[in-house]
Amino acid sequence: MTSILVTGSNGQLGSEIRELTTLYPEFKFIFTDIEELDITSLDEIIQFVEKHKVNYLINCAAYTNVDGAEENVDIAEQLNAKAVKNIAEISAHYQIIPIQISTDYVFSGKGFKPYNEDDETSPGSVYGKTKLKGENYLREICPKHITIRTSWLYSPFGQNFLKTMIKLGKEREELHVVSDQVGTPTYAHDLAKSILKIIRRLENDKNFKEFGVYHYSNDGVCSWFDFATEIQIIFGNNCKTKSTDSESFKTLAKRPHYSVLNKSKIKHIFGLDIPHWRGRISHCINRIKS
Ligand SMILES: NC(=O)c1ccc[n+]([C@@H]2O[C@H](COP(=O)([O-])OP(=O)(O)OC[C@H]3O[C@@H](n4cnc5c(N)ncnc54)[C@H](OP(=O)(O)O)[C@@H]3O)[C@@H](O)[C@H]2O)c1
Repeated sequence: MTSILVTGSNGQLGSEIRELTTLYPEFKFIFTDIEELDITSLDEIIQFVEKHKVNYLINCAAYTNVDGAEENVDIAEQLNAKAVKNIAEISAHYQIIPIQISTDYVFSGKGFKPYNEDDETSPGSVYGKTKLKGENYLREICPKHITIRTSWLYSPFGQNFLKTMIKLGKEREELHVVSDQVGTPTYAHDLAKSILKIIRRLENDKNFKEFGVYHYSNDGVCSWFDFATEIQIIFGNNCKTKSTDSESFKTLAKRPHYSVLNKSKIKHIFGLDIPHWRGRISHCINRIKS
């Protein structure tokens, strides 16, 4: 039976994959987080993959605190870069196909049209730089891999913008949200489904050759202000959202002004039908409410 190891599986994306396992009875899933498998330890991963026969490794573990990474450079480097090097080396040796999750932060954010997979990368933050290093290790050491760059992830699990907006919207009458940073939200449930469809395709097509980098977010474009406004309306908070700009909302890490990802490649190669961001918020909110 095809075996899929999911690392960092208590986070947003890992939790969404866990919810989908019954739809994929042909796969055996092994869910781990740092307590069971610390991906910064090469020895631990070797022992783990020698004990459990692993065919695919979905790496959901990362240092995802974008502002925290500016101050904790070593930790971000360990988890986002060196641990991915471990995964790349072990995957190449044991013939495992790794599915790595990366980010829109690898781009400068100065563009004006959706980023393609082979557009020039130029990260402006420690988080983006360390995630790009991880991508590069995989490319160099284990060419037979899939890297999926995504953006603005949200889900009913963990910490994310949607949950913060719901909480603040209950407490406050007015919220100021930046409208000069434009991108696309990604419902982690949709990304999780797509990852499993990709693995199913790789399983059914042993001659598959299109390994490498792909972009995935929901479809469409919005600002954080648009996203926050839609969240308040759909949740039913009586909170007014007002637009502000990045100058009045300073953060430790530099945020990209434009980070829309072009999804043509993943749609074409894997035949994915990607839903528009606006239509997915209610699905997530209904799960949070229930
Ligand atoms: N969140 C976003 O907006 C966003 C946007 C673009 C791309 N991404 C990428 O998408 C992926 C999934 O993100 P996410 O939001 O689901 O992440 P998340 O919720 O922060 O989950 C990451 C998980 O990894 C665990 N972890 C930390 N150190 C570990 C270690 N040494 N070994 C094993 N597990 C460890 C964390 O545990 P603790 O909680 O105990 O630390 C957590 O359970 C990441 O690669 C991220 O870079 C995220």
